[in-house]
This record gives sequence, C-alpha cells and structure tokens, in this order.
Amino acid sequence: MDADNAMLEQLVRWREGLVSGEIFVDPGIHRQETERVFPRAWSYLVHDSQLRQPGDFVTTFIGADPVLVARQRDGSIAAMLNSCRHRGMAVCRADAGHARAFTCPFHGWTYDEAGRLVNVPNLEREKIQGVRMTRMGKRVYGDLIVEKRDPRGRKYFWIGGDHLTSEEVPGSDLEAIEENFVSITPIHLDLTNYAALRALRKWTW
Ligand code: FES
Repeated sequence: MDADNAMLEQLVRWREGLVSGEIFVDPGIHRQETERVFPRAWSYLVHDSQLRQPGDFVTTFIGADPVLVARQRDGSIAAMLNSCRHRGMAVCRADAGHARAFTCPFHGWTYDEAGRLVNVPNLEREKIQGVRMTRMGKRVYGDLIVEKRDPRGRKYFWIGGDHLTSEEVPGSDLEAIEENFVSITPIHLDLTNYAALRALRKWTW
C-alpha cells in the first residue's frame, strides 16, 4: 500500500519519539522509499576504513540500484553501478574484497577499479605487445533472435545468435586486441542525439 502523509504521521510520531515497526516490513513503504528517497538523497555507501588499499571494494545498493565502490590507485574512492554495460549483468558478485579488475561472468567484459573497460588478449604474457588506450570498436550482431527458456521454464530472447562480426574502426579496442595489445577504454553513457540537438536549437519557438 502507498503511505500518504496522514498515515506516515501515524507510523512515525516523532514528537513522542515513537516509530511503528510497520515501516520496516511494509512492502509499499519500502517501494516508496526506493522510488522517492534513495535515488534523490545522499546515500551512505561505505566507511573509508573498509577500503584500505587500491583495489579494495564493497558492493552495496542505492535504493534498488546495485553499486560497486572501490579504492582507486590515486587513493580516492569511486562508486559505479554494478551493472555490465553489455547486457546489464552484475559485474561483481562478492560483498567485499580486493580485485585488480572486475570481469563480468556473463561474457567476460572486464572493467578496472574505475569502471573503464579493459580487454586482455587471450595469450601468454610474453606474447602481449603492451597496453593501448582505445575507443570502443563496433561489434555487429546478426539479427537472429533466439527464443530460449530459463531454468524455471520462463521464456526469454537472445539477441545475436548469428555470426558475430566487427567493423574496422582505427584505434579501437578490437583492433588493439587483434594486434595482441591490452586495451583500456574509458567509457561513459550519454544517449543524447547531438545532431538532432544542434538542429533543434536552430528552430524558432
Ligand atoms: S553482460 Fe557482461 S559481458 Fe555480457
């Protein structure tokens, strides 16, 4: 159920210092909190002492969103969504620990402690040519949509069951891996259509 102001005043009688136990167990109140409170307010994630060394990490939540918090190499602390940019799988499953990189268990995309995508060729160490800073390449997934069933028998669809190809993009991570380099790609997500934005700005309103 959704709690309105009158109901909240009954549940939390702050003048008398009384809080109903209901607020800890009511699913409606929990949902309202995850929608209205946690995404909009500062959230406590970790104490500084939990992340002593670069690479130390803790996983937690901001409301319903899973978050990965890690000590960086420069000593700062960074937090990022614990969600793979490929298909959204949780990149880190442990509650806490130490890691040099975080590898998504689904298809193996790997991120460093700052959330940058890192690719390492599947070669013996001495065959690796070095490290390159790269841009993302373009993978081309076939348009085959495969219907599958999960272990509970529910239907889901798998995209890209057809042969996977890539477009040649100079300076890309794919090119680096092809040439036996480790690639590091800083990433950010901004879906703004800048061409449309430029066109719209010329309109007279
Ligand atoms: S979902 Fe993470 S690698 Fe595919």
